[in-house]
Order: sequence, then C-alpha cells, then structure tokens
Amino acid sequence: DVHALFTEGVDTIDEEIYDAAPSLEVIGNRAVGTDNLDFPGATERGILLTNTPGILQNACADMTFALILGIARRVSFGDREIRAGKWRYFDQTPYLGTNVFGKTLGIVGLGGIGTQVARRASGFDMRVIYQSRTRKPELEKALGVEWAPDLRTVLRESDFVSLHMPLTPDTERMVGRSELNQMKPEAFLINTTRGRTVDPTALYDCLVAGKIAGAALDVTDPEPIPVDDPLLTLPNVIITPHVASSSKETFRAMAEMAVKNIIAALNGLPMPSCLNPEAIKNR
Ligand code: GLV
Repeated sequence: DVHALFTEGVDTIDEEIYDAAPSLEVIGNRAVGTDNLDFPGATERGILLTNTPGILQNACADMTFALILGIARRVSFGDREIRAGKWRYFDQTPYLGTNVFGKTLGIVGLGGIGTQVARRASGFDMRVIYQSRTRKPELEKALGVEWAPDLRTVLRESDFVSLHMPLTPDTERMVGRSELNQMKPEAFLINTTRGRTVDPTALYDCLVAGKIAGAALDVTDPEPIPVDDPLLTLPNVIITPHVASSSKETFRAMAEMAVKNIIAALNGLPMPSCLNPEAIKNR
C-alpha cells in the first residue's frame, strides 16, 4: 500500500518491488549511486526515482585519504597486532609502512568525489594522474592534475590507484586480473565506489602473489563480506563496512535530501534531484 519508499543505495529496487507496490509513486534513494535502481520499470509505471547528489563528496574524499594513509602506514595492522598481544617490545621493523607524501595517486573517475580526493592529494605533495569518461581541462589547470590517455597508464604509473567511477555495465569488473597485473608491486588499490568494479578473486590472488602491495576497500562484492572471505586473512588489506560517506553530518544531510525528494514528489512539487523526470507523464 505504500506510496513512497526511502531506500539505501544497496537495496535492490526492481520489478519485483514495483509489482508488489502498485501505489508506489516515488523512491527516495539515500545515495548518490543509482546502480541499485531499475530505471525502465520505474519510468514505465510513472514511479519517480530520486537520489542525493552533491553532498557526500567531501566525506568520501576524507575516507579515501583515511584508507590511503591507513593502508600505507599500516594503521589497522598495528592496531590488530596490539589487540592480539603481539607488541611485546619496541621494534618498528615489523610495522614499516610506505610514504604517502610525494607519491603518485591515480584517480579513476574524476567526478565530484575524485575531484575532492585530488584536492586533498595536493596537500600531500602528490602527483595526481586521472582517467575519466571525459577529459576535464579546467580541473587539470585548477588542481594541477594530469590526464592519462588510458587506464593502463594510470595503473602502471600510480603508487595508489583510487576508484571513483560509478558502477555501470561498462565499469563492472573493470579492475580484473590483467589490470591488477599492470600495477606496480609496491602499489595499493583503494576502492570506495562499488565492490563489483573489482574482481575479488583476482584481487586476492594478486595480493597473495605480491603483484600489488595492498588494498583498502570500503566496498566489497558481496556486501556484507562473509567473515570467512579469504581477503580477510591478509594482513595487507583493510576492509570497512561501506561507510565512506557516513560522517554524522553527511549522513543527516543525505537523509534530509532523500526525504525532501519524497515529500516534493508526493505533493507534485519540483524535487531536489529526480533521476527520471520523464516518468511524470506515466503517472
Ligand atoms: C553510497 O554508496 C552512495 O552511493 O551514496
């Protein structure tokens, strides 16, 4: 009987949901990602799909840097060692990390989040190269970032490869065995976008074989990652529970925008962010 659904970006919203809710008018997706939403089914039924863009990019960029610093300087590893009672005397050698400052950061997807990551990287004196669907000359100038002609160049030259492209049929499993093999053995993979952009089996194999130095993943495939997943056995992996956007402030702002989208749609008013306005004619 519901007229509106407030959803999270990991809830699959498809024909089954639409068929079960014939009164449905609007989906308020509390996420910027839209890969969980079935567009044709909604538009055909006159259901308005909404999301929450333009809010989370700074929180996600902060978390991306938390992961970059955490994996490079082995923050979680040291913490796990202490809790396991393994730190018995002063010896830094088991915990040696890698510098972040001065290194090369490769950004895949220079949208709102990628751009904020690039801004932070300049404070760490990093060289930033990027690949994106479209070249952004104005950002190159403003942020001092370099365009890479292809993904291969980003993979080959970066010490940190950070994924910020949306999940689409084109980006699903975009980082597989051959991509990981193009990375430097001392390089790290950072994923804060969607788990399905990376092949997890290939990632595990490449980490074990020392093809790359480590991975920091806020997103996995599947989610939640099962506790017996082999990736969780590796010391050079950080996994967080899909929380890159979730500072208290950003969480609240996204929730408010999702609610505003719903209220506006139910009242026939302009929505802050409607993804399929063409559905209105089918209502
Ligand atoms: C979070 O994953 C989002 O898409 O907002």
